[in-house]
Amino acid sequence: MKQKALFLSASLLVVLFLWYGCSPSKPEPFLTGEIGPKEYDPEVWGKVYPLHYESWLKTKTPKPAGKSKYKKGWDDDLIVYDKLSEFPFLGLLYNGWGFGIEYNEPRGHYYAVTDQLEIDPSRVAPGGVCLGCKTPFHREMSETHGLDNYLKKPFREAVAMLPEKLQELGPACYDCHLPDPMSLTTKKAHLENGLLAIAKREPSRQELRSLACAQCHVTYIVPRDEQMKVAGDILLPWRNGTWGDIAIEGIIEDLLSDYSRLEWTQKVTGFKMPFIRHPEFELFSKASVHFKAGVACADCHMPFTRTGSYKISDHDVTSPLKADLRACAQCHTQSKEWLTERIHHTQDRTASLILRAGYGTATCAKLFEALHAARDGGAAVDQALYDAAKDNYMQAFLRVVFINAENSTGFHNPAEAGRVLGDAIAFAGRSEGLLRQLLAGAGLDPGLEVALELGNYLNNRGEAGLNFKPEQEFPDPFGNQQHFLSDEAKGL
Ligand code: HEC
Ligand code: HEC
Ligand code: HEC
Ligand code: HEC
Repeated sequence: MKQKALFLSASLLVVLFLWYGCSPSKPEPFLTGEIGPKEYDPEVWGKVYPLHYESWLKTKTPKPAGKSKYKKGWDDDLIVYDKLSEFPFLGLLYNGWGFGIEYNEPRGHYYAVTDQLEIDPSRVAPGGVCLGCKTPFHREMSETHGLDNYLKKPFREAVAMLPEKLQELGPACYDCHLPDPMSLTTKKAHLENGLLAIAKREPSRQELRSLACAQCHVTYIVPRDEQMKVAGDILLPWRNGTWGDIAIEGIIEDLLSDYSRLEWTQKVTGFKMPFIRHPEFELFSKASVHFKAGVACADCHMPFTRTGSYKISDHDVTSPLKADLRACAQCHTQSKEWLTERIHHTQDRTASLILRAGYGTATCAKLFEALHAARDGGAAVDQALYDAAKDNYMQAFLRVVFINAENSTGFHNPAEAGRVLGDAIAFAGRSEGLLRQLLAGAGLDPGLEVALELGNYLNNRGEAGLNFKPEQEFPDPFGNQQHFLSDEAKGL
């Protein structure tokens, strides 16, 4: 029986070989060697799949500068793009922990762990748990060594526990492939639990072409105990969602449900806050045009590419703009210029709304600061109004973080990004109104414009003493932001 099955699969292989051999997209030559089920080392995979290995290694190489307007992350100008300078209000809103100290645009996959080692140490303060969506060893390490001996271990000590050669290994063949790489898979425990929470079973091959990326390009919580110390491995706030509908409303409800989600204290307001990280999968899969059309992350970020006489899925994962929109041409007949204009059309509108929502929310934060000072000085504050102002502020803040942390500047789901930011602006407006009413009650008038004093938050940050870089700031593409906040009030 076993022999028969072997014979059958062997003949199937021969047939496949002959068939592919005659078609223009030949599979790459099968070199000798076997991949073990726990093979983490891409170099070993590279002995069998040299073209894929070379392609994967290219995420190490900087990309041509000048091609992307909003994601100038790892380009051959070698400039580090600082998110806090691009959107200065973030410096105020994130002040109180690592994200408010150093927060850079992403580089290629090759640098996933390297960047953690190079960034201001405040960013990896929670410890080994930070390796959750970085090293392929994380699951094994977490399961073997647990909370005290790995997840809570100081970051560098946790990295030192990994096999020496592969300590800086980021997204690897092992993460996305079974030993036979024609089968895609996912390996991360947090995604497995997230999929259970949304009752998603047996994803199709096309769905796996997105889920392979959703292992890391999702938002997660680093759960805390009552002292805000790390209490477990990362988890996804998905329990209110379903497949194709992991909405911001459900995420926020989860994040505000108990103290274990409160990861840091915002300096300006003194509030304990949850956070949202790179929710590419959540925004994209919330009924975007492309998701509804069955398009996957890999369709746009890993298009077929020719290397010699072979065609392979491009493993040099990057911005489609930096790859000359080759991916789009698989489905769209329009010109590169037309498609570029369409991307910018969405991104400009998103960026403009991000400014409105971000500065609106930052204004509320400063009003809370003033109100808290008045309260400390003995002013009476109506508790019901205060609670409403705080609730609205949280709703605005988490929406601002959601769209800012999402890396496509709206492209992955233009209408949804607009909806979320529109709501953020409304929540911030409501909060500001209530805060002004409370301040008036305390005999204070914050004036027409609230001074944000951004220079205080953006200059001399962290061990490296990072400063605001004015040339990196994104101006409002439509010039409207100046009607809401003058340069003086920004205080940069
Ligand atoms: C194991 C985790 C992991 C997986 C799996 C993963 N990524 Fe990433 N990705 C990252 C991290 C971390 C970064 C940022 C690296 C840095 O800045 O050092 C990143 C960066 C990127 C970038 C920016 C690259 C650039 O040139 O600026 C893109 C685009 C991207 N990922 C897309 C994808 C897609 C598409 C998939 C699925 C095919 C995927 N990623 C799978 C963790 C992952
Ligand atoms: C229809 C095509 C398309 C699909 C599908 C798609 N993306 Fe993107 N993605 C883009 C475009 C266009 C950008 C904007 C790039 C830019 O501004 O340079 C982008 C940006 C990104 C970035 C930031 C890139 C950078 O250089 O910093 C990441 C990360 C990313 N996408 C991940 C994903 C993930 C994960 C998925 C699936 C959940 C996905 N994308 C689905 C087209 C797509
Ligand atoms: C972030 C996820 C990811 C990583 C990391 C990754 N791959 Fe892939 N790989 C894919 C996806 C997605 C496909 C397309 C598969 C499909 O459509 O079924 C693919 C396809 C392949 C294929 C099938 C032929 C082709 O080109 O479509 C081979 C072989 C392969 N990868 C080898 C590797 C090797 C070797 C490594 C490590 C050096 C690697 N992959 C790393 C996601 C990944
Ligand atoms: C796998 C196929 C596929 C790929 C790859 C793809 N698209 Fe699409 N795209 C579609 C489909 C299907 C639609 C739905 C409308 C239609 O049928 O034309 C669509 C719609 C669009 C729209 C109109 C969106 C709207 O809101 O109506 C734009 C703009 C677009 N794509 C841009 C891009 C860009 C830019 C890329 C590359 C980064 C890309 N697409 C990659 C299949 C694809």
